[in-house]
Amino acid sequence: MNYPVTIIPGDGIGPEVCQAARLVLEASGVAFEWHEHQAGMEVANRYGTPLPQETVDSVIRDGVALKGPIGTPIGTGFRSVNVELRKTLDLYANFRPARSIPGVESRYQDVDLIVIRENTEGLYSGLEHIVVPGVVESLRVITEKGSERIVRFAFETARKYGRKKVTAVHKANILKLSDGLFLEIARRVARDYPDIAYEEAIVDATAMKLVLNPAQFDVLVMENLFGDIISDLTSGLIGGLGLAPSANIGEKYAVFEAVHGSAPDIAGKGLANPTALILSGVLMLRHLGEMEAADRVEKAVHAVIQEKKQVTRDLGGTASTMDFARAVVEKLQG
Ligand code: NAI
Repeated sequence: MNYPVTIIPGDGIGPEVCQAARLVLEASGVAFEWHEHQAGMEVANRYGTPLPQETVDSVIRDGVALKGPIGTPIGTGFRSVNVELRKTLDLYANFRPARSIPGVESRYQDVDLIVIRENTEGLYSGLEHIVVPGVVESLRVITEKGSERIVRFAFETARKYGRKKVTAVHKANILKLSDGLFLEIARRVARDYPDIAYEEAIVDATAMKLVLNPAQFDVLVMENLFGDIISDLTSGLIGGLGLAPSANIGEKYAVFEAVHGSAPDIAGKGLANPTALILSGVLMLRHLGEMEAADRVEKAVHAVIQEKKQVTRDLGGTASTMDFARAVVEKLQG
């Protein structure tokens, strides 16, 4: 069977890492019917909108998308396409695993964490207004429904992956009403999962504890902005943004993308590490039920990284984005 998948190359290094990920996924033995559609900054210049309706429609038809990073103008301009897509398709859960890869030099060798980030609410609701000149308000929306489903997703993820503990990360000491609600719901949901330990941790202390000893955590669940920041931190713990995959999951659709952005500083030079997007493809294969192919691709990526001969500059090598992808394909075929 051919899986229909929408592929969105995106901006900056997006087209490069997408091409690499596509090459590897096609060598996995699983057949795809790719539907390529555009979104991003260049598209906005050409079509007047950064997220054409035909791109959204394609994801709705296929149910699954592999997406490159998309840039967002800072301070002014259009709202983030990434946020827009997550909200439009109600991709409420952002699954961001951070697992050490053998052979990558980093602070720790045994990191195995899962960050679950709420994807549709919080400060990313995009509700900002000028109260009076010089005073701006951004609304941080936390709802009972949004909290309930993200915490439940975290516990279900913990069960699915045989994990022992879920930590609800919050700032309820200051944000008494909004994060107070989040915690109240988290405690209630936790009671439905007596087989999994539940604990709470304040976000600033969590950042410090993660750097000192990441092994004290297992699955972490939190609202949107905290999840954005903490998951970049956990990417750093395993060796950088070039290695961290993610999945945006909703009831009906799923969009797989790397944690990193469009990296304009290295775009168009073949320097980007495609590992993060290839491993996002591994998450996509698992989502499609192709467990064996997913394991093979993951093993091939790890083997190429461990050999250190065909790795990109961020991992201390000189290989290009496509050299790395071709080395992974060779491993898959060897
Ligand atoms: P970034 O993740 O693009 O880059 C941060 C640093 O990591 C840069 O030095 C970059 O060269 C490096 N890096 C990132 N990915 C890499 C890779 N695959 N291989 C090697 N090095 C890599 O973050 P930045 O610079 O803050 O954002 C750039 C643009 O990307 C912004 O417009 C931002 O809004 C957007 N962005 C989009 C995301 C998405 O589409 N999901 C996520 C994060 C940012």
